[in-house]
Amino acid sequence: MKRQLLVGMMIGAAAVAGAFVLADRVDSPAPLRPPSLPVQLQAAGAFSPPSAADAPNDAFGDAVRFGEQLMTDTATHAQQYVGNGLVCSNCHLDAGRKAGAAPLWAAFVNFPAFRAKNGEINTFQKRVQDCFLYSLNGTPPPLGSRELIAIESYAAFMARGLPSGMSPTGRGFLAIDAPKQTPDDRRGSAVYAEKCSACHGPNGAGQKFADGPVYPPLWGAHPYNWGAGMARIDKAAAFIRANMPQGREGSLTVQEAWDVAHYIDGKTRPQDPRFATSAAATRALHQDTPFSRYGTVVDGVLLGDPSNTPPSGQGR
Ligand code: HEC
Ligand code: HEC
Repeated sequence: MKRQLLVGMMIGAAAVAGAFVLADRVDSPAPLRPPSLPVQLQAAGAFSPPSAADAPNDAFGDAVRFGEQLMTDTATHAQQYVGNGLVCSNCHLDAGRKAGAAPLWAAFVNFPAFRAKNGEINTFQKRVQDCFLYSLNGTPPPLGSRELIAIESYAAFMARGLPSGMSPTGRGFLAIDAPKQTPDDRRGSAVYAEKCSACHGPNGAGQKFADGPVYPPLWGAHPYNWGAGMARIDKAAAFIRANMPQGREGSLTVQEAWDVAHYIDGKTRPQDPRFATSAAATRALHQDTPFSRYGTVVDGVLLGDPSNTPPSGQGR
């Protein structure tokens, strides 16, 4: 938590400094961060994992520390496996430590596990492969590769002392209530313009500032692809409600979180790697849920149709 606050303050300072430096550059204004509100949404009583810096000075400790680096600088250390502009810790916040943001320690003690997504018993490494394939729109490192062993070692180190086979408090995203009104694009776009676009950009493409903060993409050619968990409106709404806008976490109402998640899911993004002949066929096979807009028409655009959908596994 401390570390995260510090990083948040550093990002805040960089953004404020950037605003002065770039004051007369109308093309790329650095977003100003509002003053931090107290975090209202926390997984109370969640486990507090040890720091990777405290891992032993041996081969295992080296793997743990490399695993932490892979979480925050994924493309630097595993470039051939990453196909977009994201790193693991853009979603698994605080390098996979933050309770309520799908922390790796909570995942580790629940694998191997059956997953309906592929109908198999998945090892932890297999589960991580899926986040490379879908969330990083890339090519998964092979099972047993140095990269997957490192991420698994990091998760195992953090999870020491947790009972296995049970979901500890803080696993996954904090649950969000159902919306009172059906999520709506008009309201969602207003939330986006007012509370998200300063960082993620008016066109959802994210923004990078030289030596400054990096705001990850949400739609277009460089975000997670259509097969990712974040492409599910219910998962995105839960993540956004508890973790966004950065610096004002918990300030959105439940309805605002659903509306903006619905709006973001109505945009184009890279193809589902499981694509089968058409958007309709792929929806029937893999996206048949009210929480996905894949294969539906939004603003005249058939989402997932190859004519308007960047291919999967590319786009960095
Ligand atoms: C775009 C956001 C995003 C990125 C980037 C991302 N993930 Fe995930 N990840 C998710 C979502 C969403 C889930 C599903 C969480 C849930 O169902 O509660 C998930 C689940 C997981 C799980 C299982 C969690 C559990 O409790 O069962 C692991 C392990 C994991 N990711 C590791 C990684 C690693 C390692 C990387 C980088 C190589 C990565 N993820 C990149 C969004 C992301
Ligand atoms: C002050 C800047 C800021 C604001 C405002 C902001 N975000 Fe973010 N957002 C970030 C940063 C930075 C990350 C990556 C977190 C990290 O790496 O620690 C992120 C990550 C995300 C992610 C997961 C990563 C990805 O690209 O898919 C989603 C989804 C997201 N934000 C949605 C939103 C939504 C919706 C809003 C408005 C309600 C919003 N954000 C407002 C800075 C911001």
